[in-house]
Amino acid sequence: MAYILKRSKYFLCSQRILNYYKKVDFWIIFAIIAIFVYIFGLLAHPFELSYETAFSYPLKGNIKNCVAALANKQTVDCRIINSYDYKFLIDNKLKCDTQTPIKLVLIIKSAIDHVDRRAAIRESWGHENRFSDVTIKRLFILGVDEENQSSDLIQNEQNKYGDIIQANFLDTYYNNTIKTMVGFSWAAQHCPNGQFYVFSDDDMFVSIKNILKFIRNPTEYPEYLEKSNNSAVSNFINKGLNYELPENVLFLSGFVHQSAPHRHQCSKWYVSLKEYPYDFWPPYPSAGSYIVSREALKLMHYASFFTQHFRFDDIYLGLLAKKLGIEPFHCPKFLMFEAPYDAKNFKYVLAAHGFHSQEMTKIWLEQKMLGNA
Ligand SMILES: *[C@@H]1O[C@H](CO)[C@@H](O)[C@H](O)[C@H]1NC(C)=O
Ligand SMILES: *[C@@H]1O[C@H](CO)[C@@H](O)[C@H](O)[C@H]1NC(C)=O
Ligand SMILES: *[C@@H]1O[C@H](CO)[C@@H](O)[C@H](O)[C@H]1NC(C)=O
Repeated sequence: MAYILKRSKYFLCSQRILNYYKKVDFWIIFAIIAIFVYIFGLLAHPFELSYETAFSYPLKGNIKNCVAALANKQTVDCRIINSYDYKFLIDNKLKCDTQTPIKLVLIIKSAIDHVDRRAAIRESWGHENRFSDVTIKRLFILGVDEENQSSDLIQNEQNKYGDIIQANFLDTYYNNTIKTMVGFSWAAQHCPNGQFYVFSDDDMFVSIKNILKFIRNPTEYPEYLEKSNNSAVSNFINKGLNYELPENVLFLSGFVHQSAPHRHQCSKWYVSLKEYPYDFWPPYPSAGSYIVSREALKLMHYASFFTQHFRFDDIYLGLLAKKLGIEPFHCPKFLMFEAPYDAKNFKYVLAAHGFHSQEMTKIWLEQKMLGNA
């Protein structure tokens, strides 16, 4: 009897402990789920608005007339809500002061201490006299550092190479949009006579040779080059089939993404619903390397006055293009995902991410030898 009593007491007790644990388990599981839902932003998705049907980004409404008016220095009805009017410490404003038509302006986003990368680019794909019959201008765009102490070094570099633009904004990752748009602003003001503008990071391999072929006939690149082996086709081309884009073409091209905002909190690219409420981004080119025509550059610069700032520069380019009705043209020959280098597969590559300094130079020299850069 005593034994039974003891057992049932034990039984009751263990039952209680079990219940206790069940309760604790429940709360732990609940907490874990809640944390996951929060971190992975699962609650955000149902509240997203449709990009297809509801997209609108400040300034609301059609800004095209305002952009045209501002570009032609006429009075503007729309409110100017944004500006990248940072003072140029080095403005290089005579860089494009030339009578010969400028084919390409290379605007390379760099950082103050990336001296090696700039040196490598000057000696390789950024060489201004690479082709005797093509005028190319090269510029590196920089902000300022926290203590503003490197100004002498940068000024020396400018004195030696004449290819620096430096503006008075703090050079940090989340200021990339400022850097990009200061580049647009500089080009629109001080170098409006380029035919195409190649924007690039300083950790890219770029083939200027291929880019020159690409901009002649982007929609058929690189197939049209293969076709021209066929003598019938090449005769046809020589007889005047025009493989040049018109002077006033609105052209923006790169590796174009059609993607959704990251809603999980740990992402480097986390964006709240408040900042951007839609389920998709407008199509945007990877910021590492893209090409803009003169007319598109000008309109995008003026559109930035009527388009609220966004801290990711690639997204901001997409927003400007969307508001102007420019459809970014996707070309997979911009390699934006880190891929191992393979000499044979680089024949038609326009730009490839993740190469700098000596490694980049080595690749460039090899591709030049193969006739691809
Ligand atoms: C950096 O120095 C330049 C002159 O050397 C000055 O004009 C500029 O305002 C300074 N910028 C900052 C952010 O302190
Ligand atoms: C961006 O630059 C501005 C102007 O120099 C500065 O006030 C701001 O703190 C910078 N932002 C970031 C995120 O570094
Ligand atoms: C075209 O000619 C080049 C050399 O002249 C050659 O390397 C390439 O393979 C040819 N392409 C085709 C499709 O025949």
